[in-house]
Amino acid sequence: MSVRVIVGAQWGDEGKGKIVDLLGTESDVVARFQGGANAGHTVVVNDAQFILHLIPSGILHPDVTCYIGNGVVIDPAEVLREIDFLEKKGVHVRNRLFISGYAHVILPYHQILDKKKERDPNLFLGTTGRGIGPAYVDKVDRIGIRMIDLLNEDVLREKISLNLQLKADQLAGQEINRDVMVAEYLQFGEQLRANVADISVLLNKDIKAGKNVLLEGAQGTLLDVDFGTYPFVTSSNPSVGSACSGLGIGPTNIDSVIGVFKAYTTRVGEGPFPTEFDEEFAKRVRSWGNEFGATTGRPRRCGWFDAVLARYSARINGLTGLAITKLDVLDQFGTIRICTGYQIEGEFVENLLTDRQTISRVEPVYEEMPGWQQPTSDIREFEKLSREAQNYVKKIEELIEVPVTLISVGSERKQTIICE
Ligand code: IMP
Repeated sequence: MSVRVIVGAQWGDEGKGKIVDLLGTESDVVARFQGGANAGHTVVVNDAQFILHLIPSGILHPDVTCYIGNGVVIDPAEVLREIDFLEKKGVHVRNRLFISGYAHVILPYHQILDKKKERDPNLFLGTTGRGIGPAYVDKVDRIGIRMIDLLNEDVLREKISLNLQLKADQLAGQEINRDVMVAEYLQFGEQLRANVADISVLLNKDIKAGKNVLLEGAQGTLLDVDFGTYPFVTSSNPSVGSACSGLGIGPTNIDSVIGVFKAYTTRVGEGPFPTEFDEEFAKRVRSWGNEFGATTGRPRRCGWFDAVLARYSARINGLTGLAITKLDVLDQFGTIRICTGYQIEGEFVENLLTDRQTISRVEPVYEEMPGWQQPTSDIREFEKLSREAQNYVKKIEELIEVPVTLISVGSERKQTIICE
């Protein structure tokens, strides 16, 4: 038995969906602990592509039970869309997906407020527009609406009324009909009633029973509202801490924490990015790596692997293993750069400070390595990689001081090198 956590260790989009799907083969339970439908986890199985925003990608294994924890913000319409999509593809979901009654719900006004804020040039962050920030604001402000509230008409009506009243100024000019909203969300509640549960109780029982459990993070550590490049972050904690607070388990239950890194770096939306490529080169890498957001379709910004940020992520998450994804995207590079340190005005910076002013001033120090310029997608053993590719992976391992346990060389489940 084991309880493993998978976290994104960069700015999200590291390929966690594939890793969770892969490790799902050895799991009984997969649980999601934060974020919302801002995530987009892409999994390719037998040439069929599945993009899931809320349901854990472990659902693609027929014997796996999936949980969505209290730390996640739920768009019920999206959950129902995903259930429908999966059921149409022959994946049975209803009897093995459970959602915390304490998870907060995203309502239409959260999306309106998110988009409105994004239209203000002083507040623009490049969010996904899914209402994530405003929903977490309501949670912390103690006026949020939770999944259990969708099961009680009086409570739901009262809470929606209160929210519309409190937000009246911000929502002025918007067409919002309270009664229609109440009816729609009650209907969502009815459709999901059988799937709402106390996830903390279920998960602790599973752990006690010795089941193999995988806890799935969304986004990445550098988008963490506490530890990321604030304010250009999401509104939750994608780092390991919320695996506990977002599911209702204790930290002593966790056996290992795997950080997923892309073999280079990407980010979507605004914010500092020290190792970013120039646009000409980014365009090429974007097309090789299909670097377009799974949720918004936006082109991702691309850059070299940044070992300073990676070491930082390893520290915040107490990583015990690394999964390196998209190594094959580097197959065509003649020379590969890896950022090994930062300087500010000629002074070496040892510990990364993620505040906006500091990180936007750093100059990356690079080490150059020869590329391998041969395909890696059909390779399944580390020793069969060319010496240059092996050296690149070993360099990452050496710089982060955490062992690489898995390398992904393509989007298919089988395109994987297990290093353990
Ligand atoms: P929000 O989470 O929609 O509020 O967006 C805040 C920031 O996080 C923006 O820069 C988004 O592009 C980024 N973001 C949110 N979710 C993801 C994700 O799943 N992958 C990558 N970036 C994300």
